[in-house]
This record gives sequence, structure tokens and C-alpha cells, in this order.
Amino acid sequence: MYKARHITDDIYYIGVNDRQKVLFENLIPLPHGVSYNSYLIMDEKTVLVDTVEVSFAEVFLDKLLSVLGDRHLDYLVINHMEPDHSGAIRAIRRMFPDIKIVGNARTFKMLDGFYGINDGLHEVKDGDKLVLGKHTLQFFLTPMIHWPETMMTYDINDKLLFTGDAFGAFGTLDGGVLDTDIETGNHLEESRRYFSNIAGKYGSAVQNALNKLKDIEIKTICPTHGPVWREKVNKIIEITDKLSRYEGERGVVIIYGSMYGNTEQMAEAIAYGLSEEGEKNITIYNVSKTDVSFILSDIFRYDRIVIGSPTYSNELFPEIASLLAKLETRDIKNRKFAYFGSSTWSNASIKLLAAFAERVKWDVVSLPIEIKQSLKEDKYEDCIALGRLLAKS
Ligand code: FEO
Repeated sequence: MYKARHITDDIYYIGVNDRQKVLFENLIPLPHGVSYNSYLIMDEKTVLVDTVEVSFAEVFLDKLLSVLGDRHLDYLVINHMEPDHSGAIRAIRRMFPDIKIVGNARTFKMLDGFYGINDGLHEVKDGDKLVLGKHTLQFFLTPMIHWPETMMTYDINDKLLFTGDAFGAFGTLDGGVLDTDIETGNHLEESRRYFSNIAGKYGSAVQNALNKLKDIEIKTICPTHGPVWREKVNKIIEITDKLSRYEGERGVVIIYGSMYGNTEQMAEAIAYGLSEEGEKNITIYNVSKTDVSFILSDIFRYDRIVIGSPTYSNELFPEIASLLAKLETRDIKNRKFAYFGSSTWSNASIKLLAAFAERVKWDVVSLPIEIKQSLKEDKYEDCIALGRLLAKS
């Protein structure tokens, strides 16, 4: 029933869209859904590259069979074992008991652990090739994008790279699959949020992978989430390269927690000072309102970060503490930083923000600003001065 979706003459898209899941990994909001991409190569040998989340196995198998017809499926390549891609492996194995499963040594430990599958395996090492007929696949081990077993699979014939999570984006594929058939603005934004939240911790691993791939010609990137990149191959590589080097674009992100609006007024004054000095790219986030995944995305993107917190039960405002923990986990480097805080009787937030800055080794551009109870004239002017300083830094 399903129309074949060609990526190249012999390579087909057979992925699915998930518009049901509210939180990816039960953590990250999906306002535009997410796709789980899978690909089928039809050559003398037939090869499935990755599967989909288990709840979509039924429609996925129908798509697979609609392209495969009455041919046998010879290989399943597993680039990544996270269950959003490996969930339908058992169903595939039941349908094709003789299939050879292609992966590396780490893949197979996880395959056994998750699904109890430990035979019918074809192990590959870095650089190994598999001849299918007209097409030859080459495998590149790219650990930690996003798990230790992750690898990429290069189709030498079509100069096409199956990349697993790398170069992926949140957002369903609503009609088109190739970037040439889609308005990709939102997908590019969502690729930043995807990277920041999923692979952001592993910047050096991503750099290692980009280095390993730098000498192969890539005409098409087939990730496991989001559009297939062809027209924007260079663009998506450039975005990934910058994010994984923690190279911030010019821009200021101000994040505050505030119970009654006093700390918020400090954020407003800092932004005003920035604007007075000609800074145009400023975003203020109320940490209690905007999901942290969007804030992280902007912190990865921009070069100057300002964080303000009231003291709450002699600690940081809880949502700010949670944000800081996520930032530390991701080990984001090379940011200019300023901070501010408020209290009613004893101030802990400033000390805790100072300790955070020291731990993450961010470049603190100014002394912190601290208020008690409410923002008065002198501190208002200090906030504006801080904004001006940040604009010049
Ligand atoms: Fe899309 Fe790491 O799985």
C-alpha cells in the first residue's frame, strides 16, 4: 500500500512519524513530534539500516514489505542501539530468522542485553566493508554519538552516509523527507535543540567523528531523526561542528528565576543596558516558564550567558539549580558569564552561582549584582552598567 520513498535509485526511506510522544526520553518536549528514520537498500543483497521505536513496528513492517516485495531481507545494519531505533529488531528477526545482523562488538553486547539476540551476527570493525552487489558499505565506528556502540555506515556507490543520531533533528517529516522538498527552517532550529540535549555532552567525540569523516565525499546524510540532508549537507555539518566545538555565535541569553518579579526586574535592566550599547541579539528566559531544553539550545548557540536567581530555602531557586546541573553535565566551554541574585534575609544564591562559574571555568566578566528585597535605583544602574559591559565584551 505504501508508496516507495526514494532517497537514491536503490535506497528507500521507510521511517515513521511519532506525534504521540509528549516527552522524548521522557524528558524533552516534542512540540513538533519526532521521526524515527529507517532505510532500505535494494541491491543483489538487501539491507535494512536501523529500525524504529517498538510501538511503530506494525506500520514499519508494512512499509518494509511494500518495498521488499517477496525478496528476502539479507542484512540489518545497527548503527545505534538506543530503543528509539532498535525497538523493532525483534520483530524483524522473527520475520526474517536468517537475517545477518551487522554491528560492532559493543553493539552485540547491547543487542544481547536488550533483546536476548546473540546469534546470526556479522561483526564489523572500523573501516570494514560489506559488498552488496552494485553498492559497497563501509563502517566507521563513532563512539559516543550518542552511545559507546554508535557507528556510521557509508554507501560508497551513492556517497551517502547513514549517521544514526548525528545530524538528527526533532520534528516529524510532514510529507517530504529530503531537505530539498521541505522548508527546513524549523528543522534546523530543532537540530540545534536535539544536539544540545542529546549529544551536547559529547563534543569531543563529535569532533573525532567529523575528523574521521573529513576525507570522504558526502552527497547525502541520512540521520535517524529529521530530514535527509542533501542540499544542506554543508550547513548541517557546519552547525554540528560549531556546537561540538562550543563555539558561540554573538548573542546574549539571560535566564532568571523569580518568585515575585524582583529578580526579573534585574534581568530587564541588564537587557536594557545591552540594548543601549547596540546589542540586538538578546533573549530573556523565565526558567519557570520555558522548558530547559530550549534554554540549553540557546546556551549552546550563543557566546554570553547571564543567570540570576533568588535565594530559596538557603539554596538557589530550584529551577535554576536544575539548569546549572544540566549545564555542568554537558561541560559547555568558552562562555562569557555574568550573574546576579536576590534575597530577603540571607543571600546564598550569589555564592552558589560564583561556585558554579568556577567549576565550569566560564569567563566571569563582572562582579555579581545582589539585591535585598527589591531593586533600588543604585542597583538598577549597576544592572544597566553590567548590560553595557556585556555588550562590549
Ligand atoms: Fe535517537 Fe540515541 O537515539
